[in-house]
Amino acid sequence: MNVIFTESGKEAKLVEGRTILSYLQELEIDINASCGGEGKCGQCQIEVECASGALSDKTEAENEFVHEDTCRLACLARVLKTDEHIYVRVPRRTYYVLESGEYKEIALEPFVHIEGERVFCESEDVGEYTGEIYGIALDIGTTTLAVYLIDLESGKVSSVISRENPQTKYGNNVISRIEFARKGQDILEREIRTAANEMIATLTEPSKVYEMVVVGNPVMRDLFFGYSVESLGKSPYEPLSVESVSKTAKELGLEANPEARVYGLPLIGSFVGADALAVVLATEMYKSESDKICMAIDVGTNTEIALGNKDRLIATSCAAGPAFEGAGIACGIGGVSGAIREVKIENFGEVKYKTIDDAAVPVGVCGSGLIDALAELLDKKLIDGRGKFYGDKKELKIAEGITLSEKDIDQLNLAKTAVAVGIKVLLERYGVKLEDIDSIFLAGGFVNFTNTEHAIRIGLLPDVERGKVKKVGNAAVEGARQALISKTKREEAEAVAKRIEHVKLEEEDNFMELFVSELYFQKYL
Ligand code: FES
Repeated sequence: MNVIFTESGKEAKLVEGRTILSYLQELEIDINASCGGEGKCGQCQIEVECASGALSDKTEAENEFVHEDTCRLACLARVLKTDEHIYVRVPRRTYYVLESGEYKEIALEPFVHIEGERVFCESEDVGEYTGEIYGIALDIGTTTLAVYLIDLESGKVSSVISRENPQTKYGNNVISRIEFARKGQDILEREIRTAANEMIATLTEPSKVYEMVVVGNPVMRDLFFGYSVESLGKSPYEPLSVESVSKTAKELGLEANPEARVYGLPLIGSFVGADALAVVLATEMYKSESDKICMAIDVGTNTEIALGNKDRLIATSCAAGPAFEGAGIACGIGGVSGAIREVKIENFGEVKYKTIDDAAVPVGVCGSGLIDALAELLDKKLIDGRGKFYGDKKELKIAEGITLSEKDIDQLNLAKTAVAVGIKVLLERYGVKLEDIDSIFLAGGFVNFTNTEHAIRIGLLPDVERGKVKKVGNAAVEGARQALISKTKREEAEAVAKRIEHVKLEEEDNFMELFVSELYFQKYL
């Protein structure tokens, strides 16, 4: 008998002892398995439609994460009996695309243009003009993917789409992806390109896509382009090459015009990649006057921070982990419809919340909601600076079945500390103080919902003048858009990449000391 995944129709033979997650991976069906199948992240939830006694009983760990009888964690549900089919549904989640809808006006000078009835990319004839020419800007995050479809005749963004990176089922951070790539690089490559194809097909007729600009950290970018990421897994942890890359859609098996150029922005070094460069490009901090030093923080699983102005730029990456993207947190979830995005604790302890899309039934808490919850817990003196609850209560109930525990708070503490340490080390390296910073650009999938005051309260952001903090949404994909529609911007990106100094946090003498001293929820200057 088989396990049958009802939505895709894929199936495989039942083997006693196998987990449902192992089937999902084998059949390449998308599921978030951020903890790598250890039953710790709660992200691999599935719905078992019919399996009377054919699966193992729910474990204690599962009961922590799933509250409906039919729901299971795919990594913990094992096949017990093989004499009847097991029907499984994998819930699909639509990501809320956090972008402002306002794009910087820049002169339109794309590489792709029309000459008569033909479409050209620079001097290369790439096909017949059929009424529309589109480009794709793709940001490959470790946890989340974001795509802009851009009309190359007007330069306008036609549509946007976002979804989870399907590679999360093989691990939730760049290190676990590198490890998986040792035996299954081809699987990771296929996963990401298939996801890109699906996103493109959702947005337009793929043959109308004539150029793509791709950004991502070095592991994400190089997996997409099919370069080995092995060198990033061993000292000195550098990519094969930091240069920009260019292939055709045909070479990569992408469903766009076969001759469409797929261009990857250059990398900066080690784990600081094309996405960080795209943020620098979008914020134009590389043009900032000598007396105006800017900082850009792109909060994600691999958080990048850049600092400087037109005279000097430095950048680093911090392994913040996916906590602020909702993974590894029992009640956490990405920015999907129904996610709790705002949390308030009233004076008598009553919790109020708002969900994305105003959904009546919350499905979890996304990054901005987690930051709110922490700040409120601190302000209402329900937890101390180390994140421990006062009194007997050891968790905050946010909604039915949605609670934030001390264990979750520890994960968030590690994530915010990684960012805070990155900021402090960069300031020290640059030889400036926070008060010397003119602007802090806050970028990332969930930042538009983030309450700046609360991010400062928990020590994720420094305690600077509030007016200096500027939320710039998903600046990485915006930078990719600019490099797509402007030759000048692309040239600038190539030039700027060469002059950004890369700082390796772990090589700093006082790194561990600083990290431990920062493991505290407090404002800092
Ligand atoms: S993969 Fe199942 S709980 Fe993390």
